[in-house]
Amino acid sequence: MRVLVTGGAGYIGSHTLLELTAQGHEVCVLDNYSNATPEVLTRVRSLSNGIIHDFIGDVRDTAKLDEVMQDFVPEAVIHFAGLKAVGESTEKPLLYYDVNVSGTLTLLRAMERAGCNRIIFSSSATVYGEPVYLPYDEAHPTNPTSVYGRSKLMAEQILTDWAATSPERTAVLLRYFNPVGAHASAQIGEDPTGVPDNLMPFIAQVAVGKRDALQVFGNDYDTPDGTGRRDYIHVVDLARAHVAALNYAQGATGARPFNIGTGQSYSVREMVAAFERACGKPIATKQVGRRAGDIAAMQADSSRANAELDWVATHDLDAMTASTWAWQSKNPDGYKGS
Ligand code: NAD
Ligand code: UD1
Repeated sequence: MRVLVTGGAGYIGSHTLLELTAQGHEVCVLDNYSNATPEVLTRVRSLSNGIIHDFIGDVRDTAKLDEVMQDFVPEAVIHFAGLKAVGESTEKPLLYYDVNVSGTLTLLRAMERAGCNRIIFSSSATVYGEPVYLPYDEAHPTNPTSVYGRSKLMAEQILTDWAATSPERTAVLLRYFNPVGAHASAQIGEDPTGVPDNLMPFIAQVAVGKRDALQVFGNDYDTPDGTGRRDYIHVVDLARAHVAALNYAQGATGARPFNIGTGQSYSVREMVAAFERACGKPIATKQVGRRAGDIAAMQADSSRANAELDWVATHDLDAMTASTWAWQSKNPDGYKGS
């Protein structure tokens, strides 16, 4: 299939390009490089035998989208392009609604003009908010607690209304849990700018000597060791979920959300111990208070994705930490080192 991948130069997008081209899909990236570097596509191309077109542009740019649609004529779109920092979203709500909500609207209008009827959307487990029960299934109430989370839920609602207008239209809403890890080549991986917000890249930067110690946010949660628990998913498993979603979209109609996680959860302390096994050295930690807005634990029930997308996560925690360490130790400064 001919697949337009917005945000394809980003962390999850770059891994997905490799899985798509490995399955024979022809891809076209649209990225404005606000959180990526062109070096990513150089590396992806060196790892892939497939066809990877690319355009530099913004998903809010109507003229650019029309140009891409006319040149590439996609049969489906995977929409990764977006902003994802929860803290920043509180400070810059209009920017987040503009990129994540208006960007999705602009893209859908361009798809309509081009007659493209299938979209796979990067949503997040954060749309659920404080758990009423765990594991979350897709019927769990949605009550996001941040601007970022609300922008994702609004985009989901727009996609759902759009998909309902014609039996030919499909929107697959993938609610990711916590993506971690890197490609087996150690050539592509997560490369956050500035101080990492998320646990795994922070631990990796401590291991490689770029940060002194991991701050452990809270030890008084109602969890076995008192630290927060999350459902971490290997980015290659997540990338493969997009290939599965494309296959599903060919025979589906309407919008449908899917949880993409492993169904297992690990605490901050367990993650540190697993990373120490992978890198063979101790990770310095400092216990501090809770981070505002954090919840104690989250975990996916991904049985719908297992059954309907014919997809299952296959990488375990050791594969997640080992691949993160391989990427970080070979690229201590991320893509900037090349
Ligand atoms: P990322 O920042 O690495 O990738 C996003 C890509 O989109 C980047 O290459 C960036 O340059 C591009 N981009 C941003 N704004 C754009 C715009 N206006 N026009 C064109 N390109 C634009 O992030 P990621 O971790 O790969 O996440 C991809 C998607 O998945 C995002 O929508 C994110 O909200 C969602 N998501 C991520 C996580 C996570 O933990 N990484 C979890 C749940 C959902
Ligand atoms: C965060 C976002 C969430 C987003 C997800 C994936 C918040 C409040 N939530 O979730 O919306 O979908 O990232 O990108 O930011 N931790 C530490 N020290 C650190 C970093 C994290 O102890 O330096 C702990 C956290 O308290 C949490 C766990 O590690 O218990 C995971 O944190 P993180 O990787 O930031 O992911 P989430 O909190 O799940």
